[in-house]
Amino acid sequence: MNRDVIVVGAGIVGCAIAYELARRGASVEIVDERHPVGMGATQASAGVLAPYIEARDGNPLLDLGVRSLDLFDDFMTRVSSDSGIAVSYRRTGTIDVAVDESEMRALRTTADVLARRGVAARMLDRAGASAEEPHLAGDVIGALVIDAHGFVGAGDLTRALSVAARRHGAQLIEQSRVRRIVRTGAELIVETDRGSLNGTAVVLAAGSWSGTIDIEGVAARMPVRPVRGQLMHLTWSGPPLKRVTWSRRCYLVPWDDGSLLVGATVEDAGFDERATVAGVRDLLEAACDVVPQARTAGFRAARVGLRPGTSDDLPVIGPSSVVQGLVYATGHYRNGVLLAPLTAQLVADAMLDNRIDPMLEKVSPARFGL
Ligand code: GLY
Repeated sequence: MNRDVIVVGAGIVGCAIAYELARRGASVEIVDERHPVGMGATQASAGVLAPYIEARDGNPLLDLGVRSLDLFDDFMTRVSSDSGIAVSYRRTGTIDVAVDESEMRALRTTADVLARRGVAARMLDRAGASAEEPHLAGDVIGALVIDAHGFVGAGDLTRALSVAARRHGAQLIEQSRVRRIVRTGAELIVETDRGSLNGTAVVLAAGSWSGTIDIEGVAARMPVRPVRGQLMHLTWSGPPLKRVTWSRRCYLVPWDDGSLLVGATVEDAGFDERATVAGVRDLLEAACDVVPQARTAGFRAARVGLRPGTSDDLPVIGPSSVVQGLVYATGHYRNGVLLAPLTAQLVADAMLDNRIDPMLEKVSPARFGL
């Protein structure tokens, strides 16, 4: 079915949706205030794909994350082929480390959950952890390795998605701030500070900024708030870490080009996108505590992103229960990169094939009166 869809937001979620809709034959426009694509939370993402660390057993986020992770291999192959852009993507696993008994207990609980689900994981004692990752500090008393996890170049992937979407006919409109969405008859109008766009459907994928857009007829307050994350970009020399290294205070992501990304703060700072002295200091200290050799790394940059958090920490995905033709894909909080392939699939299925996946019930806009 051919539909004129306006996707509001050119972060990884918006670009993944635009690409999926366009490749399935929809006529798509993507609109964003910034330039180039992915300049909101996406540019400050380390691209970690780790659902078994990010979500606890019983939380719908775990099932969403695992399902999306399962899509990643095919998704990456398709996006690279459709865009002609090679994007770094590794499934090297994670090593989640403990420095005291209570952290060890938490790792054992996760290991039990993984065993019940049949997911490959290994609990390591002090000697095992140090043999597995020689860079770990001496006070690490154990670790959990989860092989399925990995990481992806979030910025490059977003660029590739936008190129692939455009190759399938999508149009990208940048430097246009969306102010209002209004229904008039059979159409939805998206009012920007540089004119209006109209289509038969609109996808709201504006991350932390979703709540700044006025939607006519929707009285409920959008439950999305910015949660600042600071991320350090270091340059590492010598043998790299083998995989994503995760502690309670930070995570470290080793890139093939010698970069080491260290994330991330979790701060309530409104729309303030500045890096702070405390954020930089805390992350660098945490990184050096878990991997002492990080002291010798070069400091390249601090990046800052505003994750779109919601009151129940679950995203808001699916058709609006109030405005016909409006679809939400926002509030992905810490998991926008991980959930991008699944979000795109669920949204395209709902919009183009009227297929409402049962999983959408848990993340439905209706739970917030949207
Ligand atoms: N996904 C990790 C973070 O948001 O910091």
